[in-house]
Amino acid sequence: MISIQNVNKWYGDFQVLTNCSTEVQKGEVVVVCGPSGSGKSTLIKCVNALEPFQQGDIVVDGTSIASPKTNLPRLRSRVGMVFQHFELFPHLTITENLTIAQIKVLGRSKDEATQKGLALLDRVGLAAHAHKHPGQLSGGQQQRVAIARALAMDPVVMLFDEPTSALDPEMVNEVLDVMVQLAQEGMTMMCVTHEMGFARKVADRVIFMDRGQIVEDCTKDTFFGDINGRSDRAQQFLAKILQH
Ligand SMILES: Nc1ncnc2c1ncn2[C@@H]1O[C@H](COP(=O)(O)OP(=O)(O)OP(=O)(O)O)[C@@H](O)[C@H]1O
Ligand SMILES: [Mg+2]
Repeated sequence: MISIQNVNKWYGDFQVLTNCSTEVQKGEVVVVCGPSGSGKSTLIKCVNALEPFQQGDIVVDGTSIASPKTNLPRLRSRVGMVFQHFELFPHLTITENLTIAQIKVLGRSKDEATQKGLALLDRVGLAAHAHKHPGQLSGGQQQRVAIARALAMDPVVMLFDEPTSALDPEMVNEVLDVMVQLAQEGMTMMCVTHEMGFARKVADRVIFMDRGQIVEDCTKDTFFGDINGRSDRAQQFLAKILQH
């Protein structure tokens, strides 16, 4: 579903991604972790063409991002993205947040978009909040709306960039529960997260990045089960985050 092929990217002189290659199969859940500044967000943004890259290619469901013929807005509409900050439109109701892109980008009727949006709102456990504005919801609730909004576009893959790291601790689980459910339903997912409980529960593979490179790309069982077989950097990283 996603094929990342020898991607190199620079910000000016600074090489932020170096020879990054990996594949994500349909239905697979891949967790991306690594130290701050290692390029996780940059890599995931390249997958839905929010960031350009200078070398290599990324193919999403058969569509090449590097090809000049590709209609990037169309590709982006099929790749769901959930960020650390939920970025809902504050002046719109939850229902309007869930329907605006369906109507404007996919050309759905208001009725169809509303029906779909409300069904997804129900699925993330927030049916009662449809008429509210984002400011009236907790951070965890807003993040669940953001997930529902991405799902309303019928994405072929879902990308997450630290979706729980800005939340109060007691709200983390309600968002992770929605993500676990999605994973179990067979959604193809690439998730930047340091929630190792989530990784252990649903990840098929774990990618560890350091200084712009994919240093580890292995099954969850190998990553957590054979810590001594991992690179020094991955071992140091794991030792730090697994202490807590
Ligand atoms: N627009 C930009 N211009 C220049 N450098 C950038 C830009 N965006 C990111 N960088 C640099 O690229 C590197 C990778 O950034 P990136 O945000 O991908 O890291 P990350 O692994 O997601 O880190 P974090 O865990 O802190 O979110 C960092 O050194 C960062 O300073
Ligand atoms: Mg980041």
